[in-house]
Amino acid sequence: MTQFLLDSGDPDEYRKITRLAQEHGEVIFGATTNPTLIAKKLAGKKVTREEAFNLQKQIVMEILEIVPGPVSAEVYADNTTSHLDMAKQGEEIGSWHERIVVKLPTSLEGLKARTILRRKNIPINNTLVFSQEQIFAICLHEQLIQSEPETSSTCFISPFVGRLDDKGEDGMALIEHAMRLKRTYGYSPLILSSSIRKSEHVKRTIDCEADLITAPASAYETWLALSKEERESLDATTYAKNLTPIPYWEPDDSLLSINSIDLLFTQIESGSLNINHHLTDAGVTRFADDWKAIIINP
Ligand code: E4P
Repeated sequence: MTQFLLDSGDPDEYRKITRLAQEHGEVIFGATTNPTLIAKKLAGKKVTREEAFNLQKQIVMEILEIVPGPVSAEVYADNTTSHLDMAKQGEEIGSWHERIVVKLPTSLEGLKARTILRRKNIPINNTLVFSQEQIFAICLHEQLIQSEPETSSTCFISPFVGRLDDKGEDGMALIEHAMRLKRTYGYSPLILSSSIRKSEHVKRTIDCEADLITAPASAYETWLALSKEERESLDATTYAKNLTPIPYWEPDDSLLSINSIDLLFTQIESGSLNINHHLTDAGVTRFADDWKAIIINP
């Protein structure tokens, strides 16, 4: 059954939506935050980098008291941040609480940071995911990591549905294809349907049995207001007729035979496995800009 997470940086919203969900017999199991959402909560403040990091921690710790499950907190990264810097931040964030999941951007540097953090058994949520090649790369990375001794724990992949829709592509197809890829090859990362805008996204996520969904308060307010009958009769696919379909992408034998992390990075660096996506780059820039807006002398 698809589990519900709230996508917000505001503890008051968690209190409100967890209560609302409870009244409707549902559970908000966990949380996702990102630099934009945390900066929104801190809007109007001007603080140092260190103060901002501490304020992020305070907010995340408060959210951890409200929801029973995983809470994702993101490293600060712009398009020049090294994997070592991300890994350092990730290790600190991962030490805040046992239910913390560290969010990393799905770039080459992000994947290199993932290697360091997963070898320390820190759970990762790969964010800003827009392509099936990225999903495959993360799944394979996790499979290779898990073949090493003493590396387990649950990890997440967050394809951004709404941002693909905004560009005229059927973002929900990425979730459906991710679940098919997972089932075909038995990959373990949980698919977290993200960047949710409307009830149609919620329904399609549930229909394809995605592992989790994270949605803003407004989407839950609309979804929870629907009766069981209204949810069942909701036409969740017609809107997508105006969007460009995303065909299923199948990894070829040479990609499926990658058997080491080093080889995986070689294939990515040579372009045989292309994990670049302009929306990932744009997303990194947007998160960084929103974060810098609250920092003194960024
Ligand atoms: C997911 O973890 C992200 O925080 C989120 O879903 C982004 O959604 P947006 O596209 O509405 O910013």
